[in-house]
Amino acid sequence: MEPKKITAPYLAEMKRKGVPIAALTAYDATLAAVEDKAGLDVILVGDSSGMVITGLPDTISITLDEIVFLTKNVSRGVKRALLVADLPFGVAQVSTEACIEGCIRLMKEGRAEAVKVEGAGHTLEAISRMTEMGMPVMGHLGLTPQSVHVFGGYALRGAEEKEAQRIREDALKLQDAGVFAIVLEKIPVELAKVVSESLTIPTIGIGSGSHCDGQILVSYDMLGLGPKFRFVRRYLEGSKLIGESVRQYIDDIRNRDFPNDDESYFA
Ligand code: KIV
Repeated sequence: MEPKKITAPYLAEMKRKGVPIAALTAYDATLAAVEDKAGLDVILVGDSSGMVITGLPDTISITLDEIVFLTKNVSRGVKRALLVADLPFGVAQVSTEACIEGCIRLMKEGRAEAVKVEGAGHTLEAISRMTEMGMPVMGHLGLTPQSVHVFGGYALRGAEEKEAQRIREDALKLQDAGVFAIVLEKIPVELAKVVSESLTIPTIGIGSGSHCDGQILVSYDMLGLGPKFRFVRRYLEGSKLIGESVRQYIDDIRNRDFPNDDESYFA
């Protein structure tokens, strides 16, 4: 029986039953409602908003206030999916307390039902404390975009054994700290498989192959509104279709075809 509402514990049940988890990002109530009605399991207000919404080249500059605002809006469109919000760069980096306070804001003001925190180093203590006090936390390993300047770009992570071992260990540490799921971003298929099999909680992959327990994409990428990456499958040629519609709209105005009488009010 499909539940009316997806919860963090239900995702573990999906893993146990072998049902792959379907997740996407959303940044506004309108798209979130469409995604929710289509039957997604998880909707993430990602810090990818720092790229696709604000137009910057990375996720570094989006602020906690901005993600709280976006989450609040998305929450009004989501009924069934589990709503997760990303803790942006510059919060957990300050202190354990700042991390916890930031996540509380995402839940209290943004109405997120869970939070996502990148990494498993300095954030581990905060993650442990939050899960202990009843806040559902999602982990994020591999290509963690908030560390882009340490990585020197967005290349595949965990291809070398030393880093692969670190990812395997971090996944277990996160599970011990109580996270309910872990995003695995852009790591080799074989590593994602080993990590997924080593955990009882689900992994949600992005650019990490088919052995993860679920998949997530940035909605704008899968709708064809952004650049085409190897790991993205486009389900709509959004830029092309929207561009054509806008050009048609301009032509219709220029030709005085729009609005016609049916599209106008008469006294
Ligand atoms: O910010 C984001 O959108 C993400 C996902 C793509 C996993 O972290």
